[in-house]
Amino acid sequence: MSARVPTVILGGTGYVAGELLRLALGHPRLELAAIASDSQPGEPVARAFPHLAAACGELRYCSHDDVQRLVASQPRSAVLAAAPHGVSHRLLDGLLTAAEAAGARPVVVDISADYRFADLDEYARVYGHPHAAPARARQFTCAVPEHLAQSPTPHVAHPGCFSTATLLASVPLAALGLVEPQFFVAAVTGSTGAGRTPIAGTHHPQRHSDLYAYNALTHRHVAEITALARAASGSEVRYAFVPHSGPFARGIHATVQARLRRPLDTAAALAALRDFYQGAPFVRVLDAPPRLKDVVASNYAQLAVAADGDTIVVMAVLDNLVKGAAGGAMQWLNRLLGFDETTGLTAPAPGWT
Ligand SMILES: NC(=O)c1ccc[n+]([C@@H]2O[C@H](COP(=O)([O-])OP(=O)(O)OC[C@H]3O[C@@H](n4cnc5c(N)ncnc54)[C@H](OP(=O)(O)O)[C@@H]3O)[C@@H](O)[C@H]2O)c1
Repeated sequence: MSARVPTVILGGTGYVAGELLRLALGHPRLELAAIASDSQPGEPVARAFPHLAAACGELRYCSHDDVQRLVASQPRSAVLAAAPHGVSHRLLDGLLTAAEAAGARPVVVDISADYRFADLDEYARVYGHPHAAPARARQFTCAVPEHLAQSPTPHVAHPGCFSTATLLASVPLAALGLVEPQFFVAAVTGSTGAGRTPIAGTHHPQRHSDLYAYNALTHRHVAEITALARAASGSEVRYAFVPHSGPFARGIHATVQARLRRPLDTAAALAALRDFYQGAPFVRVLDAPPRLKDVVASNYAQLAVAADGDTIVVMAVLDNLVKGAAGGAMQWLNRLLGFDETTGLTAPAPGWT
């Protein structure tokens, strides 16, 4: 077996960085070289992630400068970035500029929104600031791995959790021309979707034993979902998207509905969806409605479909931190490095979380 690829993680103490760390430490072809923290350089990683103490031992956080130097010193390396949007564009541009100057050629998968947009005016409109590195943005492709076999660019941007669930459910219907070009989506996310820093709306007493919608029809991810659906399906579709806060820590459940263009029953819809995802190792199309517990903490997504001749509904479940972030990113990284896309990602869900 060839040497392991030195791998660095950005976004150090965040929830997604923790999942990247867990996956990277168990990956047979990657060597964790460093994990950077903006707020805790020099501190033990196990303090932020006690559940990973047995695997990360005495590992300590590095500064971003250390990571930049490390990447520049390696002819080939991997960068998994889980910093906030609005931070990542500058962080990665600086790191890649230093690497290029040193003749190094790292591959990057970014999990923030910063490199998801082909249209940077749209990025500025949605995120409220101009993109700091427009030339760099052209080196990134954003797609759900199941909707694009190979990246045409050296780096990839992960589409994110709500987008992955919504796109896995809706793109086949649009690509196969089965539906009118308007999807109605109700998607429920767990509290880890909001990141590590507690705020009033994400605080446990607020979310626990409760279920509520927020940002109905105005969620910022609609812009990304619409652009990615266009690229993946080749057709212009609209999304009426209503996110909900669910009383659980991890997972997304999306219910996606549309009007059928021609009559279709459930059996035919199921066959179409199964055919579309044939050969996709992380997507399973079920006969019965999918359940969060069957995918949480894994890189698997499960779908199910029902059609009554007039309306079609696709239900999708996945883990927001794995398939919707760290695992989906690792799937892309495997491809960028020429590994089988499933490497290090095939552990099933624990079931009882
Ligand atoms: N949570 C999800 O389900 C999910 C799903 C898909 C995509 N994402 C995206 O993944 C990224 C990470 O999400 P998360 O949930 O892990 O967020 P998080 O828990 O809030 O962690 C983000 C981490 O980024 C680091 N950071 C903060 N400000 C920084 C700065 N100015 N410069 C450098 N690093 C900074 C912090 O760690 P240090 O101080 O240790 O560096 C922080 O803990 C975000 O872009 C998010 O939108 C999240």
